[in-house]
Amino acid sequence: TRVGVLISGRGSNMMALVAASRAPDCPYEIVVVASDKPSAAGLAWALSEGIPTFALSPKGIDKPIYEAAMDAALREAGAEVIALAGYMRLLTDWFVSAWRDRIVNIHPSLLPQYKGLDTHARAIDAGDAVAGCSVHVVTEELDGGAVLGQAEVPILEGDDADALAERVLAAEHSLYPRILAEFVTR
Ligand code: GRF
Repeated sequence: TRVGVLISGRGSNMMALVAASRAPDCPYEIVVVASDKPSAAGLAWALSEGIPTFALSPKGIDKPIYEAAMDAALREAGAEVIALAGYMRLLTDWFVSAWRDRIVNIHPSLLPQYKGLDTHARAIDAGDAVAGCSVHVVTEELDGGAVLGQAEVPILEGDDADALAERVLAAEHSLYPRILAEFVTR
């Protein structure tokens, strides 16, 4: 299955997907890495790995035009599935319905808990003992689609949001490739 990955920054989950895709028995390949941030660190990495990239800043462009360009870039690359990996922009209903049930996302909480931003600080503030990450289908509702898989990590005494984020991120890097493989072969 041909997968396009959307990123906005560092791209460590994208890198984990690319690394996993190189295993001989992996059922997906990453055919394009696209970003709303032309300066995203992950884009430079993808380029250096010989993966096709596409970048377009939405600044000063009407959102429907911006998204139509993203959609075209993904289709030109032959993407069949989209994996969001730290893509920090809300998709329009048009885009979601054009790719219905073919977009997945990784979110750094145990959904349905802590949708949206600042998940780690919120989990610590709530006094939770366990945090984690979820891979889910993308629908019109933010972080609201069906959960495909989750991984738990402990919250330790003295954790701040950064320490917890680092522990959760390590879990993300093993969860996402595994769940994407299941998703594309479902
Ligand atoms: C990850 O924590 C992911 O769960 C969240 O944004 C972060 C992206 O990190 N959606 P990276 O760009 O994959 O390194």
